[in-house]
Amino acid sequence: MTSAPSRFAGRRVVVTGAAGGLGSCVARMFADEGASVLRTDVVEGEGIVAADLTSADDLERLAATALAELGGVDVLCNVAGAQRFTTADELTIEGVRRHLDVNAVGPIMLTHALIPALVEARGNVVSVASISALMGQPYNAPYCASKAALLLGMRALATELAGRGVRVNCVSPGGIETAMTERAARELPKDVDWNLIAKSQSLIPGFMPPKDVAESILFLASDAAVSITGANLVVDRGVIW
Ligand SMILES: NC(=O)c1ccc[n+]([C@@H]2O[C@H](COP(=O)([O-])OP(=O)(O)OC[C@H]3O[C@@H](n4cnc5c(N)ncnc54)[C@H](O)[C@@H]3O)[C@@H](O)[C@H]2O)c1
Repeated sequence: MTSAPSRFAGRRVVVTGAAGGLGSCVARMFADEGASVLRTDVVEGEGIVAADLTSADDLERLAATALAELGGVDVLCNVAGAQRFTTADELTIEGVRRHLDVNAVGPIMLTHALIPALVEARGNVVSVASISALMGQPYNAPYCASKAALLLGMRALATELAGRGVRVNCVSPGGIETAMTERAARELPKDVDWNLIAKSQSLIPGFMPPKDVAESILFLASDAAVSITGANLVVDRGVIW
């Protein structure tokens, strides 16, 4: 019996948010398909390079560590993200800025730091935005704004880097079964029906296992997607909005 070909044999992949539900799945799937994977997260853990995406020093150090450990970068997966539900009345400037920093500024600047490596490898970037970037959601203005900024930031980078051989794409998931959605359900005001916001509006009911989203991330990072750049692949079980 012949084994399935390894799409990522010899490829060097950086995955942020690798301690999280989706990021750990993405990192494992790249490794299973032959890639050398550098896992990073603000959370410390075994096999994780600790870096805070909101720190310029950490971003610089992370890019240098990736080059030193992997010898180059073929794929950058910006998976890390943060979400905290807040009512419009309770918004703070720090809270809004924090979302923008983690979800948009960090991934954009990590991409920036890895441009020379990505150009050399003729590599690609896949960033995880959200359907929250496309639709307004109650209690979620900071997150929606930050993911919309990420989406358009990445699209702009795609237009600029295509001529240098680098593809840049996004995946926008709907609800995934991870710690993020568990936290969200706890944080919402008591009188808010979480199902109305998150679960009930998709054609295929329920939250997705991380693997369902990771499959699309790996597809965009693979040679099967050589002609796809500047795209946003929505993976949301058919959310109606
Ligand atoms: N869970 C969902 O329903 C859902 C839906 C749409 C999009 N997303 C996006 O998917 C991605 C993965 O989320 P998840 O569901 O796995 O959640 P998660 O909370 O399990 O993982 C997110 C990871 O990002 C890391 N992170 C947070 N702030 C960071 C920082 N400053 N620097 C470095 N790392 C940081 C966290 O430590 C965590 O490990 C996120 O970008 C999220 O916004 C999630």
